[in-house]
Amino acid sequence: MSKEQDKIFFRNFSLALGVIAVMMVVFFVIAQFAASDDEGEAKMRSAEVAKITEPVGQVTAVGDEVEVVVEAVVAEEAPAGGEASGDVGKTVFDSVCMGCHGIAAMAAMIPQAGDAAAWAPRIEKGIETLYNNAINGFQGDMGMMPARGMNQSLSDDEVKAAVDYIVKQVQ
Ligand code: HEC
Repeated sequence: MSKEQDKIFFRNFSLALGVIAVMMVVFFVIAQFAASDDEGEAKMRSAEVAKITEPVGQVTAVGDEVEVVVEAVVAEEAPAGGEASGDVGKTVFDSVCMGCHGIAAMAAMIPQAGDAAAWAPRIEKGIETLYNNAINGFQGDMGMMPARGMNQSLSDDEVKAAVDYIVKQVQ
């Protein structure tokens, strides 16, 4: 290689290094922008999500969920009157009571909904007694009926509606 060629090579090499350095700076700046864009977008998105989920955002515990469901049913159907209490009873029964009173295999330990023989002597005690025992809890020969079926968020009326629903099935 001649001296002249060395010079040309050195100049081209320096130029290439310079171009690479400039590109690195450009990429760095672009990356910075892109990152801050993502952050802004993520913030916007989480704000949007918060907005969309707001109406149900109050649900914090599994236990509360039942209450929300029940309240929704009460709110929607109560004004219609008539059938409303039956629907509330079914909703409460399905979500809270069925775990014990809707398992045929447990018939020996828990009076099952629809089991007329199991319910006849209970119904004889009077509906107010059944309401009271379902609301406050009851220790009988078969076992323990926990107060409000262990869901303290149920109102008296919701528990009563569920009792009505059970009684209606064996009458
Ligand atoms: C953890 C299980 C369990 C859940 C949940 C449960 N029950 Fe009971 N329930 C029982 C048992 C056990 C008995 C029987 C008690 C006895 O007579 O020995 C009973 C009895 C009853 C009785 C009859 C009480 C009486 O005086 O004879 C009623 C009414 C009743 N439950 C209503 C409900 C309603 C309404 C719900 C839902 C809100 C519910 N139960 C949820 C276990 C449960």
